[in-house]
Amino acid sequence: MKKALMPLVMVVLLALVPYVAVQFAGLDFLFGVIVPYVAIVVFIGGFVYRVVDWARSPVPFRIPTTCGQEKSLDWIKQNRLESPSNFWQAAARVLSEVFFFRSLFRNTRAELHNGPKLAYGSSKWLWLAGLAFHWSMLVIVLRHYRFFIAKVPGFVQLMENVDGFLDVTLPALYLTDVVIVAAVTFLVVRRFQDAKVRLISLPADYFPLFMIFAIAVVGIFMRYITKVDVMSVKDLMINLVHFNLTLPEGIGALFYVHLFLVCVLAMYFPFSKLVHMGGIFMSPTRNLSNNSREKRHVNPWNPDIKIRTYAEYEDEFREKMKKANLPVEKK
Ligand code: HEM
Repeated sequence: MKKALMPLVMVVLLALVPYVAVQFAGLDFLFGVIVPYVAIVVFIGGFVYRVVDWARSPVPFRIPTTCGQEKSLDWIKQNRLESPSNFWQAAARVLSEVFFFRSLFRNTRAELHNGPKLAYGSSKWLWLAGLAFHWSMLVIVLRHYRFFIAKVPGFVQLMENVDGFLDVTLPALYLTDVVIVAAVTFLVVRRFQDAKVRLISLPADYFPLFMIFAIAVVGIFMRYITKVDVMSVKDLMINLVHFNLTLPEGIGALFYVHLFLVCVLAMYFPFSKLVHMGGIFMSPTRNLSNNSREKRHVNPWNPDIKIRTYAEYEDEFREKMKKANLPVEKK
C-alpha cells in the first residue's frame, strides 16, 4: 500500500496545480498554451530518442521466442505463428500480440496448495481487463480527434454513434467511459489483492494507472456533470494546431486539469514503462523470424580471424613432429 500512496498523492497534487493556478491566479495561458507545446515536444523527442536508441542496438543473432514447431521437413507441419520463418509470419505474430495480447491470453496462474502441491490454472482476467483498457483508451483518444479539426470526420462520427448507442443519458453515455474506468479499477485492485503482484509492484506501476484513471474521471465529469465550454476547447485546440497563440475565453478550470494531466502523462510516457507501445515493435524476441537453420547469420562485428587448417599446421611442422615421434596424417 505504501508503494501506491506516493503516486496517489502526486496525481492529486498534479490535478490541484492547474486548478488553483487557473481559477485563482489566471494562469490560463501557461496551462492552455505553453505546457501543451512543451509536452508535445518532450513526447515526440523522447519517443524518437527511445526508438532510435533501440534501432541502433545491434541484434547479431536470431533470438525470437518460439513455442511451436519450426520450419523443417515438408511432411512436418510448421506452426507459423509460434515459430515464424519469414517476415510476414513474424509480422502476423507481432500484430496479433498488439491487437489481441495473445501471449497474455496464455498466461497461467501458479498456486501452492496443501501438500504442498503446485497447481497451475487458467488466468484470463488480466488479459480481458488489459484488452478492455487498451481498446477503450484507443477509441477515446481517436474520438477526441473532433477537438482538433473543424469538420468532424466520418470515422469519428461513426465511433461516437457506435460508442454511444445505448443512448441512456444526455449527452449519450459512451460505453468506453464505463469500460475504461472499470478496467483501470480492476488493474489497480489486482495489484493490491494478489500478494505476489503486490510484492513486485512499484510506484512506477501505480502512477500511470492513477494518472489515466484521473484523466478519465475528470473527462467524465466534464462531459456528464459539471460541463465545460466544448466549443471554446475546440477553438483552443485548433489554434494550437495552427500555431495561433490566442486563448479563447471561458473554458472551465476543470478542462485545464484534464489537459495538464494529459500533458504530464505525455512527457512521462517516453521515459517510463508506457513506452512499451513502441517497444513491442522493436523487440527482437518478437519481431525476428526463426530461420537460423535456413540461413546462416554471422555476427557482423566479429573480428576477422585468420584461420589455419590442421593440414596447413601439419605441413609447417611435419618434420619436427616426425622427429619428436608424433603421429602425422600425411607421410
Ligand atoms: C490520454 C489522453 C486522453 C484521455 C485518456 C482522455 C479521456 C477522456 C474521457 C474518458 C472523457 C469522457 C468523455 C469521452 O469519453 O469522450 C474525456 C472528455 C473530454 N476530454 Fe479528454 N482525454 C484525453 C486527452 C484530451 C485532450 C488532449 C483534450 C484536449 C482537447 C481533451 C479534452 C476533453 C474534453 C473537452 C472532454 C469533454 C467532452 C465532452 O464534453 O463531450 N482530452 N476525456
